Amino acid sequence: VTGASALARERFSIPNDVIYLDGNSLGALPKVTPERLRALMREEWRSDLIASWTKHDWIDLPMTVAARLAPMVGAKPEELLIADSTSVSLFKLLGAAVRARPNRPVILTQRGNFPTDLYVVHGLADLLGLEVRTVAANEILSAIDERVAVVTLTHVDYKSAVVHDMAAINAAARAVGAFTCWDLSHSTGALQLDLNREGCDLAVGCGYKYLNGGPGAPAFIFVAERLQDELRPPLQGWMGHADPFAFEDQFLPGGGIRRFLTGTPSILAIAALECGIATFDGIAMAQIEARSRVLSQAFVERVEARCGDRVRLASPRDPAKRASHVCFAHQGGYAVMQALIERKVIGDFRAPDLMRFGFAPLYNDETEAIRAADTLGDILDSGEWDEPRFHERGKVT
Ligand SMILES: Cc1ncc(COP(=O)(O)O)c(C=O)c1O
Repeated sequence: VTGASALARERFSIPNDVIYLDGNSLGALPKVTPERLRALMREEWRSDLIASWTKHDWIDLPMTVAARLAPMVGAKPEELLIADSTSVSLFKLLGAAVRARPNRPVILTQRGNFPTDLYVVHGLADLLGLEVRTVAANEILSAIDERVAVVTLTHVDYKSAVVHDMAAINAAARAVGAFTCWDLSHSTGALQLDLNREGCDLAVGCGYKYLNGGPGAPAFIFVAERLQDELRPPLQGWMGHADPFAFEDQFLPGGGIRRFLTGTPSILAIAALECGIATFDGIAMAQIEARSRVLSQAFVERVEARCGDRVRLASPRDPAKRASHVCFAHQGGYAVMQALIERKVIGDFRAPDLMRFGFAPLYNDETEAIRAADTLGDILDSGEWDEPRFHERGKVT
């Protein structure tokens, strides 16, 4: 794939003078989102009030919006659900997995996994008296044994962008009767995924990064069809009941993916997420993945040419081995990033020393990648990043 232009910049509302390289943390605003939310409030909530649950199919929105996501991740529409946050969804799936493997005491995960994943794993293990086995990335395969109930990993490392070999890990887990549960937060909307072909059991992912669903957008849950009747989520709520409006005292799990719902879906938030997912309409994930590598590679080469050994690439040099973001390490990384942001090149900082730059081919282009690298070079040349104001830490980095 060649050519300098973004694949669908016109679908977004981004300030003209900003180079936004943080779609991996909070995707940009789709142009249609404000109008869709206004219409939903005016024409549905205001006019039809509670009848909207049926009249406008609000009740099925977690499934219908998930169905639009299905082709982007290689899942069947009935294997996905929009619900909760990534953290809560992970708790629900891991809880369901360990419940289905009562004689297996171990949850296997990776050192340096995204913190919320580690916290959820430890919280669940403490609650149920299970053991957490935490190993380095290259020790995962050898750590999978018959004591493991579930292996949970983030597919794309949130710092380095290293991509796990999903198929190999799924196969190793399957061979000993363990489940896999993937966190796809940095993969969805960035890489071409094929969850069924790769043999995934369970997965969760984030709605507000590459999917452009807006701040705090709901997450998604994937449960392979072959497992849906076997698994029971630990957070049993009325929306997951087979017949919520029968108001029965006993929980009877709903059929298929529906049983993984818990409470009332957040309709405004799911509608915004649907607008975000629609920004991918008509564009193949293979094309997005290829473009993202072109962009990140252009950036890496220009940064290295311009900045030399003042920064260190903290992502794989081989573009095929990384996803859609790259990290560069610099001792003053936080302050350098603040100086970049002041010059309207927006990335983020991950402690202790990483400057992270995400490339969203729907709205980023090569000119931006080059200009961002040059701005980084200018800031290092001038030393302006070392001014005290750039060292003041914000609540969000
Ligand atoms: C890998 C990964 N998992 C989970 C989350 C966040 O989960 P939540 O939707 O619960 O905030 C993030 C946020 O950056 C993440 O990078």
